[in-house]
Amino acid sequence: MTVSASRIAQRVKDTVQNGFNYYGKINGKKYDSLTIIPTDGPVGAVVTGIDVSKPLKPWEILEIKQAFKDYLILIFKNQSFTDEQYLDFASYFGSVFYPSPDVPVLASDPYGNTPAIVLVANVEGGYTGTGELSAHSDHHWTPYPSKASFLHALEVPLSGGDTYWSNQYQVYDDLDDDTKAHIEHLKLITYNPFVRRIKGGEHVLYRNPELPPISDAFPHPLVATHPETGKKFLYLDAETEVELVGVRYEEGSALIAKLRAHASNPKYFYQHKWSVGDVVLWDNYATLHYRPAFDPDTRRVLKRISLAGGRPF
Ligand SMILES: [Fe+2]
Repeated sequence: MTVSASRIAQRVKDTVQNGFNYYGKINGKKYDSLTIIPTDGPVGAVVTGIDVSKPLKPWEILEIKQAFKDYLILIFKNQSFTDEQYLDFASYFGSVFYPSPDVPVLASDPYGNTPAIVLVANVEGGYTGTGELSAHSDHHWTPYPSKASFLHALEVPLSGGDTYWSNQYQVYDDLDDDTKAHIEHLKLITYNPFVRRIKGGEHVLYRNPELPPISDAFPHPLVATHPETGKKFLYLDAETEVELVGVRYEEGSALIAKLRAHASNPKYFYQHKWSVGDVVLWDNYATLHYRPAFDPDTRRVLKRISLAGGRPF
């Protein structure tokens, strides 16, 4: 066996045993620190050998971006950095999401302004409390929903407060052919839950056609195509108020209930137990995220950055 063949064999062995080790060469110097190890769930890989507080090498960025497409969520362990360094790291992947001022989202002020970094915490200045957050993708109700988000864990409970991410490619793929054909060209309006919060009124899973809509409507495909991978995914939150365009109420509400029941199967979800220092980057198109309620006597403090996306198609 030649030397190079033996190294390839070792690489294959490492891959099978440990995940993927990446080797880069910049200006003649070789690096082999980056490791990407898939979780045993339907999404996710743990990335080690990266210091988020420092500039990354071009090959590292490319490998991370490829892994992001493959695994949909990436987990960077033991990270510590300033807000400025956090924003620098995020900028490798895109621009910060800022909604139009008339479309309120989490952390919008009364004028519609939002900070670049949102405190996802149950302490003063935080926005998400301790109650259950049903499975959703961030900013789905806006005309240009975020394509990705980051969370950085600063304080976490000893138990509880886990986040679950689903694989919406698999959710779609597992639908039967008749259902796929039936929903292929449907458009879905996801109504803005923050407008509902401002206006009050009963939360419903599907819009009552006898009442006026609670917010502006920005229809998106129910079956969307991922802009990077070209793969189809079911673009539907678990409990946000929705409505199918041009479909009768009885038929639309029954169809959405059926799809939601299918998508709620735990087999589609990866459960992330947070550790202080974790950074999780998630694909906000092909995953939903969910957080059960947790003990209000514990502290859970994370910082989120969301990235701007285009119009779903
Ligand atoms: Fe969220």
